[in-house]
Amino acid sequence: MSTDTASAAPGTVTPPRPAPGDARVALPPGASTAEAGAAVVLAMRDVAFVRSGRTILEHVDLTVRAGEHWALVGPNGAGKSTILSLCAARNHPTRGGVDVLGHTLGRVDVQTLHRRIGHVNPRHPLRTPLTIQEVVLTGITGTIDWRQRWEPTRAEVDRARALVADMGLGGKEHEPWTTLSQGERGRTIIARALVADPALLLLDEPSTGLDVAAREQLLATIDAVRVAHPEVASVLVTHHLEELPRSTSHALLLAPGRVSASGRADEVLTSEAVSRCFAHPIHVERRHGRWRASAGPATA
Ligand SMILES: Nc1ncnc2c1ncn2[C@@H]1O[C@H](COP(=O)(O)OP(=O)(O)OP(=O)(O)O)[C@@H](O)[C@H]1O
Ligand SMILES: [Mg+2]
Repeated sequence: MSTDTASAAPGTVTPPRPAPGDARVALPPGASTAEAGAAVVLAMRDVAFVRSGRTILEHVDLTVRAGEHWALVGPNGAGKSTILSLCAARNHPTRGGVDVLGHTLGRVDVQTLHRRIGHVNPRHPLRTPLTIQEVVLTGITGTIDWRQRWEPTRAEVDRARALVADMGLGGKEHEPWTTLSQGERGRTIIARALVADPALLLLDEPSTGLDVAAREQLLATIDAVRVAHPEVASVLVTHHLEELPRSTSHALLLAPGRVSASGRADEVLTSEAVSRCFAHPIHVERRHGRWRASAGPATA
């Protein structure tokens, strides 16, 4: 089955420019696969995640190669954000192995990885009143708060300001995070994820709280970033298939705790597979590169 090739939707944004000294995916020898011809950026092997005596994930396998754009779809509480936290090197598996950017979790200084991963977490746990611009700049240090004794370069500040403007927040860069609307926070953390020119981009429900026009601009931004940086890999979590960018190449359906389907997007995002994953009748169609889902009535 075929998949759509990535295409840039029209948007008002400029994709991020490569930063000087940009650390792209540095892969160990043998990490590239003959099959896909692209390097493995992320590999989860038979992963289990147990917390408070509860198995949250079991037997999860996922291989993401450079240039692939994965959608991670599944019902509430299925474990999608938990998978992203493992991909982001913010959690460790209870069993199984996770390799991120050529390093095995548990054997690497995760701070080095954090700087090379753009992670959009809708529950960004910032408590201090940093400004929008400062929040974006924390993407360079890979920290939530401002790193003590760290000062950005002029070029880093310029880049942060350009991304803030691209996200439609120009002129608001000195407003404090604590008083931002949900949509403004969403745009801020997307700019933060892009500022360090990541090799791996993780987007957890990035459209949450955005109005309909902002959502379309965001999807265009994501498509544009993917075209501008074809080697960057990404994983995007959503509940709404309408919020998948055209450039989505692969999908993983997560039924609670387990992979119910995984592979090329057009083979996985079918009415049958999505209905099975949600245990509910759902009709899926794809038009002009975008997906649509309509759910049937609940059966008793
Ligand atoms: N550290 C933890 N300790 C205990 N339970 C946890 C922990 N982390 C996640 N969980 C539980 O694991 C389950 C999966 O959570 P997760 O946030 O990954 O789901 P999700 O698929 O992202 O859901 P949603 O679509 O609602 O965002 C939930 O029931 C959650 O309460
Ligand atoms: Mg979640």
